[in-house]
Amino acid sequence: MAIVRVREHVNPLGIRFSKAIAPPKWEEIFDAMDHPWHLDIGCARGYFPLKMATERPDWNVVGLEIREPLVDRANQWRDEAGLRNLHYLSCNANNSVRPILESLPKGAVKLVSVQFPDPWFKKRHQKRRVVQPPLVDELATFLQVGAQVFLQSDVEEVAREMGDRFAANPAFQKTHDGDWLPDNPLPVRTEREISVIKQGLPVYRTQLERV
Ligand SMILES: C[S@@+](CC[C@H](N)C(=O)[O-])C[C@H]1O[C@@H](n2cnc3c(N)ncnc32)[C@H](O)[C@@H]1O
Repeated sequence: MAIVRVREHVNPLGIRFSKAIAPPKWEEIFDAMDHPWHLDIGCARGYFPLKMATERPDWNVVGLEIREPLVDRANQWRDEAGLRNLHYLSCNANNSVRPILESLPKGAVKLVSVQFPDPWFKKRHQKRRVVQPPLVDELATFLQVGAQVFLQSDVEEVAREMGDRFAANPAFQKTHDGDWLPDNPLPVRTEREISVIKQGLPVYRTQLERV
């Protein structure tokens, strides 16, 4: 497999990423449009969506990632695996989630995950974090009652900010007591999650439901 060199971080507020993508013709990619859809925002190399789509053939999985070379390679892996329930899109989730959700069947998206997003620690960079109130508003508009949002990070402040931003929108309600979920409800771990767990570090997870 050829090595793909990509920048470690890109600034989603940069001019290159200011235009929303035009969604693909989903019917040409996915076999079962009527299956539930899972959007994984910020999927990096895309191992998690690949394993989820394999593990859950009765779901359609879409990985969103801003770094295009990773997306191109992930779609090659998808093709090699012959999966017809998985696609990766190169986009800035902050302006492209809306057209993506608009283009999918109404109420089709049942799960959205944001896992270990770039933390952008410096105060002046925090507006680059992916979970911003307008993204939450768009998910509130397009997700139907019962859809789930799963959030996790190894940076407590980032996990708390994401959870608080969803909880601040009356369309979302936490599904568990206490600050954090005791465990990950999904059957697959992300790359970052595996690495964090190996180092014995804590993971902060929360889940909300569209009400
Ligand atoms: C730290 S990685 C986490 C990858 C994976 N979710 C995991 O847990 O292993 C965060 C990813 O989000 C991507 N990303 C950051 N901002 C984004 C945005 N606005 N839209 C789409 N992807 C974004 C980054 O390029 C990076 O690949």
